Amino acid sequence: MSSEFIPVCEPSLNGNEIKYVNDAISTGWISSQGKYVSQFEEMFAEYCDVKYAVSVCNGTAALHLALVALGIGKGDEVIIPNFTMSSCAFAVCYTGAMPVFVDARSDTWNINEDEIESKITIKTKAIMPVHIFGNPCNMDAIRKVAEKHNLLILEDAAEAHGAEYRGSKVGSMSDVAAFSLYSNKNLTTGEGGLAVTDSEEVYKNLLYYKNVCFSLDGPRDYRHHDIGFNYRMSNIHAAIGLAQVEKADEYRSLRIKNSEAYKEYLQNVEGISFPVDQLDSVNVKWMNGILIDPEKFGRGSIEIMEMLREKGIDSRRFFVGMHQQPSLEKYGCTMTGDYSVTEKLTKNGFYLPSSSNLPSEKIKYISETLISLKK
Ligand SMILES: Cc1ncc(COP(=O)(O)O)c(C=O)c1O
Repeated sequence: MSSEFIPVCEPSLNGNEIKYVNDAISTGWISSQGKYVSQFEEMFAEYCDVKYAVSVCNGTAALHLALVALGIGKGDEVIIPNFTMSSCAFAVCYTGAMPVFVDARSDTWNINEDEIESKITIKTKAIMPVHIFGNPCNMDAIRKVAEKHNLLILEDAAEAHGAEYRGSKVGSMSDVAAFSLYSNKNLTTGEGGLAVTDSEEVYKNLLYYKNVCFSLDGPRDYRHHDIGFNYRMSNIHAAIGLAQVEKADEYRSLRIKNSEAYKEYLQNVEGISFPVDQLDSVNVKWMNGILIDPEKFGRGSIEIMEMLREKGIDSRRFFVGMHQQPSLEKYGCTMTGDYSVTEKLTKNGFYLPSSSNLPSEKIKYISETLISLKK
């Protein structure tokens, strides 16, 4: 079993991917025009229960585009979780606005909704909840704060395709939402992303800014009235995306099933803990993150990860908090505050192999190997 290295994540591409990609290539539709772009967008919008989906070249671009489409810019502040991927903060910086960090909850590892209000200022324009590792945020609480202070919400659902909160799909509970389609995500196009919305106005802004601000309805006279971006997705990538979304429910079930198997083996091991699922939600378990208590387990996470690697098992450490990013300090973000939950997650957390197609015997091997490292 240990002769074969188990990667932390590999894509499942066993549907119509090759057929659709071949079709895109053989018909010559390889740029951003072509039937797969519109078919993929329509099917993804339907999957998220929203009116509109706009494909882009990656999840970071989706976040940036979404912020621009909401009118966020210089002088504004956007509240983001401290425990997240740096793309969330960077996307805010691209607009000239200022990201403001809120620590994670120690149970779900998502943004601590109880701390959001204390970070709101006269400059705050939006909140960016991120559904960390596929676990939906407490959207009721976040929406309540947003409504009270008249703030916009941009959901970062990069890691949470198909997740649900109180019967609503993630991506459908905000003004606009962003998804990543990087190869380790539950659905992938290799590189890619999507922004989704129910608002026609936001949709038009997404289309406009994504395509270097070519006029949406006037003649293509090469006069650009705003500064836009080329964030287009190619028809080849969209061909992969369509094949992926056709199997979205299957991939979601596999991720959840794998996570349950890990829990079965590991949840009673002293020194290992899992995040708590948000109440009334479907957590799609993008990654199987665990938190180590070094005292109780007898080893720290870095040592464990090295030992797993020697046994042919790949893993990845957790994000480093935004308050510890030199780039954001240079940008002028406020780096001080209590971020003790994030610090604990960064120090003691890592994730185990989490591919949708990970066979159950490998999950058993990984779990037993991990347990064997306990002192
Ligand atoms: C929470 C979160 N937001 C945004 C991104 C950015 O997506 P991409 O890598 O496609 O640019 C990621 C990617 O891993 C992510 O995990």
